[in-house]
Amino acid sequence: MSVNIAIIYYSSTGTIHALAQAAAEGAQKAGADVRLRKVAETAPPEAVGARPEWAGHLRDTADVAEACHDDLEWADAVLFGTPTRFGNPSSQLRAFIDTTGPLWFHGKLADKVYSAFTASNTAHGGQESTLLALANTFYHWGGVIVPPGYTDPVQFKSGNPYGTSCTAADGLPGEVALEAARYQARRVVDIAARLRSDRVA
Ligand SMILES: Cc1cc2nc3c(=O)[nH]c(=O)nc-3n(C[C@H](O)[C@H](O)[C@H](O)COP(=O)(O)O)c2cc1C
Repeated sequence: MSVNIAIIYYSSTGTIHALAQAAAEGAQKAGADVRLRKVAETAPPEAVGARPEWAGHLRDTADVAEACHDDLEWADAVLFGTPTRFGNPSSQLRAFIDTTGPLWFHGKLADKVYSAFTASNTAHGGQESTLLALANTFYHWGGVIVPPGYTDPVQFKSGNPYGTSCTAADGLPGEVALEAARYQARRVVDIAARLRSDRVA
């Protein structure tokens, strides 16, 4: 049986969406069943409308399904993507996470593999703090946190052992960041498969 992986992300202007698509590719190539899901936009329409690139990305991704609790229940592994917001995950992703109390209460988020990726505008703009802040939630859920570390040559080029990240001011993610996202997803699928076979055995 293949591993179920949910890739759940928020993106205003397409950077995280591009990393999420690369992660989905990596997971598919690793043989997983993939659900690529965005979380709901919670910003007021006036704020979105004031930035054409934000409104445009929202329109361009209208056909991406929105994440729901079933995606979390279904998944053996969840890979979250979020832009850095003042060194933290975006409020849109947090808003989704903050609806998961009932799943958590019934133990339905435990024992899954969790991992995350991010972007910021500047090179030292809080990428690691954002990933570590998300990991606080994974601890509460009783998750198995799987970071990429330096377990593949691409990690020595992308340089973030906590999770794939890139600098959005440089434009859409380049090949190194995309490859790091594909690799991170592959690793998550691989570890989730090993955990599942241990449970079945
Ligand atoms: C409210 C807000 C806070 C932000 N905080 C940071 C930050 O702390 N550090 C940084 O380098 N970039 C920051 N940024 C820039 C975003 O991280 C960047 O635009 C984002 O990673 C691009 O991803 P996206 O194209 O998927 O939306 C911030 C942007 C906004 C709107």
